[in-house]
Amino acid sequence: MKSAITPKTKMLIFNSPSNPTGAVYNEAEVREIAKVCEEAEIFVLADEIYEKLCYNGVKPFSIAACSEKMKDLTITVNGVSKTYAMTGWRVGYLAAPKDIAKAIDSFQSHATSNACSVSQYATIEALASSDEEIGAMVNVFAARREKLLGLIAEIDGVEAVEPDGAFYVMLVVGGLYGKSCNGKKIMNSIDFADALLDTEKVATVPGVSFGADDCVRLSYALGEADLEEGLKRIKRFVGTLE
Ligand SMILES: Cc1ncc(COP(=O)(O)O)c(C=O)c1O
Repeated sequence: MKSAITPKTKMLIFNSPSNPTGAVYNEAEVREIAKVCEEAEIFVLADEIYEKLCYNGVKPFSIAACSEKMKDLTITVNGVSKTYAMTGWRVGYLAAPKDIAKAIDSFQSHATSNACSVSQYATIEALASSDEEIGAMVNVFAARREKLLGLIAEIDGVEAVEPDGAFYVMLVVGGLYGKSCNGKKIMNSIDFADALLDTEKVATVPGVSFGADDCVRLSYALGEADLEEGLKRIKRFVGTLE
């Protein structure tokens, strides 16, 4: 990270739990990252939108909590799309030093004219609701995660990057590159995702978009029956590659 910082560097975008890997940085790692940002005096945009969606006792740690100096350098962003499944309501929110929050507010009110009042009231209701509802949903995601990892383990030639949070699994498919589907060679994650979509109607996100061309991203933000069907099709697809 240090070697990537230049005099022009203004901000680190830090997303934990992460989309696409589901990785969650532990407190020690977050403190190390904070130290580098403090020394270089760069801002951090901390995207914590998956903070409540963690599994097996893993807990995320907010970089703004590292020190007073880090708090002054951090813009923590969040939203109701993930924890409350309110994706369509289009509400996000942030915590930042007052002057930064004010500047963001001035810009945003001109850029988007703000979120509609109905969505804002729904958000207040969601944020004020008990964590019991969230816990129930986290348990559902945890079960889907287990199911998905189990189904992936049954497919020869691919493996999963095990996530601790969010609702994605990076599927490592690079070992299959060089094989063909209906005469067309699969050489990268876009070829893989295209061929899978064409032949089995299963949509994945090519890992090249995230700098990991040996992977495609799967999401488990859908019901178990669909997950089973999707993984059955992926298994069939992989089995027919030659
Ligand atoms: C890491 C991360 N941040 C923010 C968002 C934004 O969600 P929305 O635009 O629904 O608020 C997403 C959605 O996929 C995300 O994965």
